[in-house]
Amino acid sequence: MTYILGLSYSHNGSVALATRNHIVSIQEERLNRIKRFRLTGDAEMSSLSYCLNSAGIVVKDINQVVYSVQGDSTDYMNRYELNKELYNLSQHAPFIKISHHLAHAASAFFGSGFDDALIIVVDGMGSPYTDLSAEEKAVCRTVSNNGWEHASIYIGEGTIISPYHKLLVRDNKWVEDSKYGMPKYASVGGMYSAVAKQIFGGLMDCGKVMGLAPYGHIDYQPEAFLEYENDQFIFKSDISLQFTSNRRWPQEQTIYKNLAASVQNALNKQLLRYIRKAIDETKKHNVCLAGGVFLNCTFNEVLYKAFRGTNFYIPPAPDDSGISVGAVYYGINCDRESKCPPFSVEMGTAYQFKGEIQTEMLTIERNSNYIDQTARMLEQEKVIGWYQGGSELGPRALGHRSILANPTIRNLKNAINHSIKFREDFRPFAPSVIEKEVPNWFNVADISDHKSPYMHRTFRVLEGKVDKINSVVHIDGTSRLQTVTAEQDPVYYKLLESFYAMTGIPLLLNTSFNTMGQPIVETPEDAVMCFLFVGLDTCVINDTILQKKDAYSVMDLTPVLNLDSCRVSYRIKNVEEIDIRDIERVDIKAIGQWKEAAQRIDLLRYFLLRFIDTRRNGWEIFNRMKELLKLDKNQFLLVYREAAKQHLFRFKEVSIEAKFKQPN
Ligand SMILES: [Fe+2]
Repeated sequence: MTYILGLSYSHNGSVALATRNHIVSIQEERLNRIKRFRLTGDAEMSSLSYCLNSAGIVVKDINQVVYSVQGDSTDYMNRYELNKELYNLSQHAPFIKISHHLAHAASAFFGSGFDDALIIVVDGMGSPYTDLSAEEKAVCRTVSNNGWEHASIYIGEGTIISPYHKLLVRDNKWVEDSKYGMPKYASVGGMYSAVAKQIFGGLMDCGKVMGLAPYGHIDYQPEAFLEYENDQFIFKSDISLQFTSNRRWPQEQTIYKNLAASVQNALNKQLLRYIRKAIDETKKHNVCLAGGVFLNCTFNEVLYKAFRGTNFYIPPAPDDSGISVGAVYYGINCDRESKCPPFSVEMGTAYQFKGEIQTEMLTIERNSNYIDQTARMLEQEKVIGWYQGGSELGPRALGHRSILANPTIRNLKNAINHSIKFREDFRPFAPSVIEKEVPNWFNVADISDHKSPYMHRTFRVLEGKVDKINSVVHIDGTSRLQTVTAEQDPVYYKLLESFYAMTGIPLLLNTSFNTMGQPIVETPEDAVMCFLFVGLDTCVINDTILQKKDAYSVMDLTPVLNLDSCRVSYRIKNVEEIDIRDIERVDIKAIGQWKEAAQRIDLLRYFLLRFIDTRRNGWEIFNRMKELLKLDKNQFLLVYREAAKQHLFRFKEVSIEAKFKQPN
């Protein structure tokens, strides 16, 4: 057996391991529970252990490594040699470096099934000019040694991907972040991120901007953000200069709704021009798209409508989480003969879970009829954590790590946003729908197909149907769809069919199984801890149904520390009198099923850990923290919940056993 390892040193860093007929891949964040974790050469790579365990091999069994760096590969922190096992492997196995955009391109083209396609990659920023191949350097339109790729066009033919056109951003400055106001930007992804930073405070909050845009009006014309002329984007600083404060949502509302609407309109107009030129020039009928910008479903639908008859493919993880899969695809095609295994909904490996949970707080039932039972509970308006098989790769939950609900319930959106996801009111929810039922519920008249297996497209809900599925219709009358077939996912399809038979509604509300700011749950333990802390009624893990008993609360349980180490650093003024108020920072390392990364915690969490002593339950710890820090119950629960999700403690009364499923 030949094993190819793919490594993505980037934020949303991930590892993939491929044989000729199967790929397993996972992001580091799912295992170390640090959202969007950036993989570096010296990081403890739980994702590498995960992939090796999945295949039942060790590092020295790997035959080839393909890696990609989002950043400068010569930077010390990005060197794979910092990992001793990988360094040893490099002494006898080939290590191939490919650019960030080439890995994006490979993830889209080799998973598409097309023999011949145009490939377009657009994101914030990828690799520097110095890390590009000679062929890639030859097609850079803005040649410069200090440039970094941000928009690339490749041509895929058979097993070969050839660069066609590449745009660079100067000096690593995709955004010029400043202490106050909206950053200036110099890439398409940077433009959207700059607006995200201004409205929500984070460059990565682009999904929130997309959700907010339909609430606003267009205040600024596309040309005020960027133009596309002479094969290049020209980025403007006019809008950035107008926003000089650090007031965040929801302090400002109308102006920010309009800013979101305006930047979405700018993206729709100018990126479309870039792609139109590429399609016109190359005359290709198949188009593959990758890069974080293609998580923007609103733009994707503009594209699908503009090119009716063109076949588009966007992989399940077009953002940086999919880079490791692109890397292994590239490795597989190095022999110029192999067919690539599919980039599927399920890229993780399943855990064996037989409901081995001991706690008074839950009822636990293994049930061979769990699919119909779940459909019945959904019909009865329960909100359910749905955990099946291996996990999805990327930011979308597609029926393996999902929270599901009945889409016919009015105002369910607010309830889930408030008591389960803990996120902003305006955030919409998407439905999963039986694929063949889409034309009966959504307007598909002006598109050539209605497939959306990875939730990358939006459709307008048919008039007369909006009121029936109120919870999954956005303010502009559209829904972002995941279409499901029996071939794609038999278990999830059967659940949708069962719900359809009971209610006449062929769709379910589907949102990711996590809370705001947290990675999606990975292990059964993650799922149970999330279930205990949020307002979910039921959790279904494979064929086991867990329900909370009414008389119990998570506060009744006794936490036990789960720490490997805790290091407290003081700002010492007087060695004789070290005071708790002099703490500068606290670094901890939690114990988990996978190797855990060291992380820094705030002082509230540190105080919480000091009160965990294997005897006090949640109420008693809350009372101590209330006395000492004047926390109210909601503030305490926030700290308690976040610490639980970081694996800083487990519950004495809740013993969960789930083994990683070994290969047959
Ligand atoms: Fe990227």
